[in-house]
Amino acid sequence: MQILIKNIKELVQVETGQQKLRAMGKEMAQMETVKDAYLLVEDGKIKAFGKMSEWNGTADREFDATGRMVFPTFCDSHTHLVYANSREHEFVDKIRGLSYEEIAKRGGGILNSAKATAAASEDELYDMGQQRLEEAMRLGTGAIEIKSGYGLTTESELKLLRVIRRLKENSPLTIKSNFLGAHGIPMEYRGHQEDYVDLVINEMIPHVADEGLADFIDVFCDQGFFTVEDTARILEAGIKHGMRPKIHANEMAISGGVQVGVKYNAISVDHLEQMGDAEIECLKGTDTMPTILPGCAFFLNLPLSPARRMIEAGLPVAMASDYNPGTSPSCNMQLILSMACIRYRLTPEEALNATTLNTAYAMGVSHELGSIAVGKRANFYITKPIASYEYMPYSYGENKVDRVFLNGVEV
Ligand code: NIG
Ligand code: FE
Repeated sequence: MQILIKNIKELVQVETGQQKLRAMGKEMAQMETVKDAYLLVEDGKIKAFGKMSEWNGTADREFDATGRMVFPTFCDSHTHLVYANSREHEFVDKIRGLSYEEIAKRGGGILNSAKATAAASEDELYDMGQQRLEEAMRLGTGAIEIKSGYGLTTESELKLLRVIRRLKENSPLTIKSNFLGAHGIPMEYRGHQEDYVDLVINEMIPHVADEGLADFIDVFCDQGFFTVEDTARILEAGIKHGMRPKIHANEMAISGGVQVGVKYNAISVDHLEQMGDAEIECLKGTDTMPTILPGCAFFLNLPLSPARRMIEAGLPVAMASDYNPGTSPSCNMQLILSMACIRYRLTPEEALNATTLNTAYAMGVSHELGSIAVGKRANFYITKPIASYEYMPYSYGENKVDRVFLNGVEV
C-alpha cells in the first residue's frame, strides 16, 4: 500500500545523505528541508521524497497538503506518564513558598503519587495512560519513553510496568519502558535507605527482568534522594539484567549523577539544571545524551540548564517533556520546542534536532525515527496552514498540528 502526501509547502528535517544517529555541537544547527515537496510512504515506511515537480506516479491514497508543512513527529524520551493522581494542591503549596524538596521531605511529592498508585487498579492506570498517550499523539508525539517509579513496592512497580507493557502492545506510538524503582525513598526506609536499595536490587530488578518489563533502568541521583553509591549499585544490577541506564541527575544539586551515568554508559543523563565545567567535560566523547527538561525547570522555577554552553562544547543536547504530576504536568512537545528557543536560546533548527533526532537517540530508536529519511518509519504530522517552519516554536502554546501519521497510518 502506497500513500502520497502531495503539494507539501515545506517538508522539514529531511536527511538526504548519510543518516545521523544524533546531532552534536554545530551539527545541531543543520537541518534540511524540501520546499514544494511530496512524501511517499510504503508499508509504514518512508519510501521516497523530493520536489513535487519530480513526482509523476500514482499512489493508492493521496493527501493534499497545500499550504501546510510536514515534520517528523516528536520523540519524547523522558516521561512518567503512568500515574494515578494529579497534584495541584502541592502546586499551590509551592506558590505559597514551599520548595519541592520540603514537600518531598514531609511525605508529599513522589510519595503522594505512590499512595494513590497503590490504590489504583491496573485497568484504571491503563485507561488513564491511554488517554494521556492520545493527547500526546494529537500534539505531534510519535514515540515516548515511560518510567515506573510511582510504585516503590515490588507489587506496585510491577503493576506500573505491566501497564506500560499493555500500552506498548496496543498503542500506535513507539514506546520504551524504564524501571525507576529508585525514584523516592519510602517513609519506612528513611534513615536506612540502603535497605530500600537492597530491595530494588535483590527483589525488584530480578522480577522486572524475569517478565522482560523494562528496556532501561533509572535512578533519581540527587540531593535528598539517592546517592552516587546507591546509583552505582542499582545500575550494576540493572545492567546485569540487560537494562541500559538512564539517569535523573543534577536537578537539585550537582550530585555526581552525570559522572556515574557516564561511567555506566547511560544512554542519557537527564534534568541537568545544575551543570559545572566538570560535568560538561565528562560528557565529551561519550555515547551519553545530555537531556534537558524545560517543562520541569519552568514549572519549578529552577535555574536553566546551560544548553548553549553544552552545544558550544560540541555536545549533543536533547529536550523532553518530563511529563509527570509533580514537576511537569504537560506532555506538549510543541511547548518544549518553543521553550528551547525562548528560554534556552536554541535556534529553531537546533530545537527541532533536540526534540526529534536527539530524543530518538536518547530512547534508542534514532535508527528508525527522529527525521524524514528513506527507510525510516513513516511517523510525521501535517501542520495547519503555517507561514514557515520557524512559526512552530514562535507560536508558543498553540497547537499547530493538524493530522498525525504513525507507521504510515493516520491516527
Ligand atoms: O523528573 N525528579 C524526579 N522525578 C520527577 C518528578 C516526580 C514527581 O515529583 O512526581 C522529575 O521531575
Ligand atoms: Fe523525570
